[in-house]
Amino acid sequence: VPSPMEGHGVYNQDSQVQAAGASPGLAFFEEAAATATLPSPPQRIGIADYGCAEGRNSLAPIASAIAALRRRDDDACPIVVVHTDLPGNDWTVLFDTLAHDPGSYLRGSVNVFASAVGLSFYNQILPPESVTLGWSAWSVQWLSRTPAAIPDQVQVAASRNPEARAAFTRQAAEDWIAFLRSRAQELRAGGQLVIVTMALDERGDFGYGVLLHALYETLEEMVASGFIQAEEKRRMVIPTVGRSRDDFLAPFAQTGTFAQLSMERIEIFAGEDRIWNDFQHDGDAQRFGARWAAFSRASVFQSLASALDGGLSDPRAGAFVSKLEARLAARLAIDPRPTNIPLARLRIVKNGG
Ligand SMILES: C[S@@+](CC[C@H](N)C(=O)[O-])C[C@H]1O[C@@H](n2cnc3c(N)ncnc32)[C@H](O)[C@@H]1O
Repeated sequence: VPSPMEGHGVYNQDSQVQAAGASPGLAFFEEAAATATLPSPPQRIGIADYGCAEGRNSLAPIASAIAALRRRDDDACPIVVVHTDLPGNDWTVLFDTLAHDPGSYLRGSVNVFASAVGLSFYNQILPPESVTLGWSAWSVQWLSRTPAAIPDQVQVAASRNPEARAAFTRQAAEDWIAFLRSRAQELRAGGQLVIVTMALDERGDFGYGVLLHALYETLEEMVASGFIQAEEKRRMVIPTVGRSRDDFLAPFAQTGTFAQLSMERIEIFAGEDRIWNDFQHDGDAQRFGARWAAFSRASVFQSLASALDGGLSDPRAGAFVSKLEARLAARLAIDPRPTNIPLARLRIVKNGG
């Protein structure tokens, strides 16, 4: 089971790559808010945010959806926003962000209420037909479980092991179906779901090549120095996948719909490589390395640390994370390169509205 993002505000602080990557999804989400079938007052409009982490990156999309909805209903329906994530997510930071961040959609809004559910989105977690709009950014690439060890890497896309690759492909297909089925139960007829997630680009590339290579080499170096055991490294896996356009469309292929859902729009695109763009301007290689290492730390180091003999409470866990970050940053600073960031944006509609 994947570990949540690093807590205590670290994810909020070091997730600008995700914020930039998801921004093309906002246009789809506004489109969804402008065209979804709305309930009549006094019924509620439900907005669900699947995989919220500490919430900062959800504020802008939810705020723009609320603005688009309010152009249609004049504050008449209460809007209930439900942020969802894994049980171990840092919920304290999420609620603090909703209450205090200057960009919070709660500021100045009328008849809008926030809440949260700490359960896996691979099951139905909200009442039937309660969701008018769903948003999910950078989350459905996380599998429900690690289906196999990866003997030669920590990310399956960089592995040459056929058994590992096949096991991840199977799990990715099963999880995509489970995700869609669960959302189909929660969406009301005419409700819409917008997803931005990691993808395989049209050449089949998952991207992040230099970063993944540097990460694995750094872990090997930590084994050689005796800080971690070879067996611990062997267990380290980032349970994420990139899906191709065909993978996203597979459940819809036979009849054009799946569980009353239709794929209204799908686009594979390259996420903005803001860290490289900034490096082009400032030429600061140390900063370049530090920013990619911070991105990795906030999103995947908890999953790696959970493979230590004592799991996340191993006495070395804190030092493992900080050493890995520092060494990865130094390695990346030697020869800065652009990063391919393949993403997909999808707009899915529940039929019958
Ligand atoms: C990279 S963060 C994305 C956070 C935010 N949406 C953004 O755009 O920056 C991915 C989130 O998905 C959550 N996640 C992974 N698997 C999940 C599952 N099965 N159910 C619910 N949340 C999950 C993780 O815990 C994490 O908080």
